[in-house]
Amino acid sequence: AKILVLHGPNLNLLGAREPQIYGRETLADINRQLAERAHAAGHELAWFQSNAEHELVGRVHQSRDDRTAMILCNAGAFTHTSIALRDAFAAVAIPFIEVHLSNLFARESFRHHSYLSDLALGVICGFGGDSYRLALDAALQRLQAPAA
Ligand code: DQA
Repeated sequence: AKILVLHGPNLNLLGAREPQIYGRETLADINRQLAERAHAAGHELAWFQSNAEHELVGRVHQSRDDRTAMILCNAGAFTHTSIALRDAFAAVAIPFIEVHLSNLFARESFRHHSYLSDLALGVICGFGGDSYRLALDAALQRLQAPAA
């Protein structure tokens, strides 16, 4: 099956950006590991990063046309602001897992609310780059046993 990893604004700076919060792993490191793991399990993995809300919305729409089965999404700050991205996920109805490197609930209160969480299969936050790997594990399990 096709899995998409969607990365929102500022995640292109991962590794250099506030490393005490987000860690030293780069986005390329994370994407490479996810792709290897997905391939080993017999799936395809694509990734897309953008700092622009409309491009993320467009990529979610495209996922319906290219028959993406599951999306892992770290929407960055758009998590807390974007009704448009929420509406895009609702429109395509593709199951997704919300991912954050940092523990949102140990941070500023404006990060405690997400426009995506109630639509997501689940949310993983607080484990740095491992948040993505844990989310992929959950995705792979779902793809193997869709009814579970
Ligand atoms: C983030 C948390 C968001 O609040 C923040 O705006 C980000 C990254 C995370 O992965 O911890 O850009 O999504």
